[in-house]
Amino acid sequence: MKILITGNMGYVGPCLVSHLRTSFPNATLIGLDMGYFAACLSNSEVLPECKTDVQYFGDVRNIQRTILEGVDAIVHLSAISNDPMGKTFEAVTMDINHKASVELAKTAKEMGVKAFVFASSCSMYGAAEDSARTEASPLNPLTAYARSKVFTERDIKNIAGDGFTVTSLRFSTACGMSPRLRLDLVLNDFVAGAIASKQITILSDGTPWRPLINVKDMARAIEWAVSRDMKNGGEFLAVNVGSNEWNYQVKDLAYAVKEVIPGVDVSINKNAAPDKRSYRVNFDYYKELAPDYQPKYNLIKTIEELRDGLKNMGFNDEKFRDSNYMRLNMLNQLRGKGLLNENLEWV
Ligand SMILES: NC(=O)c1ccc[n+]([C@@H]2O[C@H](COP(=O)([O-])OP(=O)(O)OC[C@H]3O[C@@H](n4cnc5c(N)ncnc54)[C@H](O)[C@@H]3O)[C@@H](O)[C@H]2O)c1
Repeated sequence: MKILITGNMGYVGPCLVSHLRTSFPNATLIGLDMGYFAACLSNSEVLPECKTDVQYFGDVRNIQRTILEGVDAIVHLSAISNDPMGKTFEAVTMDINHKASVELAKTAKEMGVKAFVFASSCSMYGAAEDSARTEASPLNPLTAYARSKVFTERDIKNIAGDGFTVTSLRFSTACGMSPRLRLDLVLNDFVAGAIASKQITILSDGTPWRPLINVKDMARAIEWAVSRDMKNGGEFLAVNVGSNEWNYQVKDLAYAVKEVIPGVDVSINKNAAPDKRSYRVNFDYYKELAPDYQPKYNLIKTIEELRDGLKNMGFNDEKFRDSNYMRLNMLNQLRGKGLLNENLEWV
């Protein structure tokens, strides 16, 4: 099996490549990435890309067809991957996350690729705290990032068929250690604050709901999607990926971190404008489709893993929210140095 992983040099990608290397030892793993965050390594002894068979530095907006020759499955992770970046680079977000993704799926089908796995997001449910949303619930994307995922899912659905299986995995918010750690994810941010300054600062009033998933459990879901039979879910499948137990209110995440790392202060911004991005999600369908690939990590184990990972890095940066562990800061820095143009292409 030949698997192309786009966006493999980010937060999820290195964990996924490691996982696929173990689950499909004979597969040829090909990475393709623009390398925006290539230098954002967190205590990696070996460059994570050494685990691929081939690594391309390239732009999914302009992918060479030859790269797709003989490829059986594509895992499409490449994206401008959060709301703050989507707000700053809105047009580029639509270009990369939506337009390029749809073009890639079309070309992949023409080139005989059999499986296309798209990294979608539960953020497409937007404001949804009254009841847990299922795949049949209406979508309510509140940001450019979430809209880009909705548009892509809508369009790749029409490309699925004739032996081309498309799986859109609507992931919960990721958390956990990775060779390219991000600290702009809620639980990672809280653990970083607890380690660096014994302080967790919740930017909202703490009430928004967020489903979470450990990044290594995301990798297991992707393994399932790459190899799933189309009888299990059909030629196009959109499914929420996470578990019902991992729907948390942001303040509960902070208190869980405080339980693991004693002596931490939690401050809630009681005057914060309400964060409309609050959603609870129902994961029954994923449980039914993929009973052997259900998330294994629990919250406490994930917090402990982050604590140990950050301590091993000698992490003590109280101002980490200004650092390159935040994806937007890294892009702004590359733009500021004139290395990327306004379309986020290398100059
Ligand atoms: N991290 C989460 O909480 C989460 C949750 C739901 C869905 N997802 C989705 O999973 C995927 C991976 O997320 P992540 O956390 O690893 O993000 P990330 O930002 O760490 O990694 C994204 C990767 O895509 C690459 N990329 C961006 N534009 C590209 C382009 N034009 N051509 C080639 N490569 C490009 C970047 O260089 C980066 O390495 C994304 O699609 C994201 O939207 C992530």
